[in-house]
Amino acid sequence: MRKNIVAGNWKMNTTLQEGVALAEEVNAALAGAQPKCDVVICVPFTHLASVNAVIDQNRLGLGAENCADHEKGAYTGEVSAPMVASTGAKYVILGHSERRQYYGETSEILTEKVKLALANGLTPIFCIGEVLEERENGTYNEVVKKQIEDALFGFSAEEFGKLVLAYEPVWAIGTGKTATAEQAEDMHAHIRNVIAGKYGQEVADNTSILYGGSCKPSNAAELFAKPDVDGGLIGGAALKCDDFMGIVNAF
Ligand code: 13P
Repeated sequence: MRKNIVAGNWKMNTTLQEGVALAEEVNAALAGAQPKCDVVICVPFTHLASVNAVIDQNRLGLGAENCADHEKGAYTGEVSAPMVASTGAKYVILGHSERRQYYGETSEILTEKVKLALANGLTPIFCIGEVLEERENGTYNEVVKKQIEDALFGFSAEEFGKLVLAYEPVWAIGTGKTATAEQAEDMHAHIRNVIAGKYGQEVADNTSILYGGSCKPSNAAELFAKPDVDGGLIGGAALKCDDFMGIVNAF
């Protein structure tokens, strides 16, 4: 069956020294805890190898926040999936709304990134979610369905089965405005139906679907109690060990 996962997305925060210290703190906190979920931190590229050296990935998984849509070559400034994997990272966030919105990442580009991530043994945490206007005009279910279809439905059931999905309503990211547990559950159940329609119920039931968007210790338990919410992708609250552990312990 699918796993429960709490994953931090540090975004463009922390210097290398601050990031290593935070990772050490989370790693130590987990040593004394018995979390009922897998715990992952996704950190800036510059931090990956150093963080890998100070954590025990049996209790704290490590991921990147992005990777390139090419394997290697003349792409100045890009970081490839093989490079990410070579640091020891096991996960990579792909399709985050900030990448789609600010860096023009299309479904075609994201399909390439997912392909390369899988080919290099990384688990993609693939993000989907509607913007405020789409929530308000009622098209959100179609929008999210199309994001999944366009980027992911070219993969085989076996490949799809390696993905983790994260539903992140863009209007809830960094705004303090969380989707209600009911809104999250409705969308997660919808996403699972969309997956079942293409790959069958077993693949759908085995796919972890995380919720992201202003998730914090005070609302995590209610969100995670919903049957189709399998954990969280945590931005701001992942930058403080106590807050992050509060969310981990919400399971
Ligand atoms: P916040 O938790 O800061 O709203 O960010 C959510 C997010 O974008 C995680 O990827």
